[in-house]
Amino acid sequence: MLRIQTKSPPLFEQGLPHNPRPANRYAGDYLILDRASEPFPPRDHWVDRARPTEPPLSYNDPGVNIDYFQRGLWRIDLGLAWHYALGRAFRISMCERTRGDAAGPVGGFAYGETSLAAMRRILTLAEACATDTFLDLGSGTGRFLLIAARLYDLEGTGVELLPTFVRNAQRIATRHAPRCQFVQADLFSVDWSGASLLYSNTTAFTDEGMARFSEKCGEIRPGARLVTVTRQPEHPDLIQVAYEMLEFSWGLSSVFVYRRR
Ligand SMILES: C[S@@+](CC[C@H](N)C(=O)[O-])C[C@H]1O[C@@H](n2cnc3c(N)ncnc32)[C@H](O)[C@@H]1O
Repeated sequence: MLRIQTKSPPLFEQGLPHNPRPANRYAGDYLILDRASEPFPPRDHWVDRARPTEPPLSYNDPGVNIDYFQRGLWRIDLGLAWHYALGRAFRISMCERTRGDAAGPVGGFAYGETSLAAMRRILTLAEACATDTFLDLGSGTGRFLLIAARLYDLEGTGVELLPTFVRNAQRIATRHAPRCQFVQADLFSVDWSGASLLYSNTTAFTDEGMARFSEKCGEIRPGARLVTVTRQPEHPDLIQVAYEMLEFSWGLSSVFVYRRR
């Protein structure tokens, strides 16, 4: 049994209907991972139940290591800090989505961020490589795509509806990740077929949004990988290859990795 101090149990604790409830439980501020009852399934096997992270990634492990400096990830964070210091990204998101019709029919606008440690883990689970074409669906500030581009030299496109995020991310990309571009568009209106690696933080999507998302998954090309957070798309050609609980700005969430048949 392993005890991990954790910051935010609520989402995990709720055992959301779309989120298979793991055997892990909270005791006060501690997440108890009962490892004996959760064997690690081998890769490439369908995983339909919870699997504790190994080791759990948390804010105590920001993912800052030698790569952070050698690969110039700090340049991305410096650029982002210039635009979004002191929680500005959350305020910008709130202003811009209440200004437009951003409540949208499918939800998904609630702002939250993927931690650096989770990004690294997701890229490892999805077997990112330099030949990948990354499509970040709902790219927010663009940090995930920018970091992925620096780490793996991959090319990619970030799709985001809020104009300030797109403008600032494009500025940073021009200087520090020239193989990336950011477009202001609805993720449901862009073509997904050109990507070999897709990421979408689907946590706040409504059921209707997930239904549309699942339908769009038909566009994903064979062999491409798709990563979603909290919610699972349903498409007969999507094979789930990994599942882990990782840390996001709101706490722990499930991450699902699929490969298109
Ligand atoms: C939870 S945030 C995730 C940000 C970033 N991808 C990350 O994981 O750190 C979701 C983002 O998706 C954007 N979004 C939501 N629905 C969208 C849509 N239909 N088209 C494009 N972007 C969308 C939101 O504006 C928000 O910035």
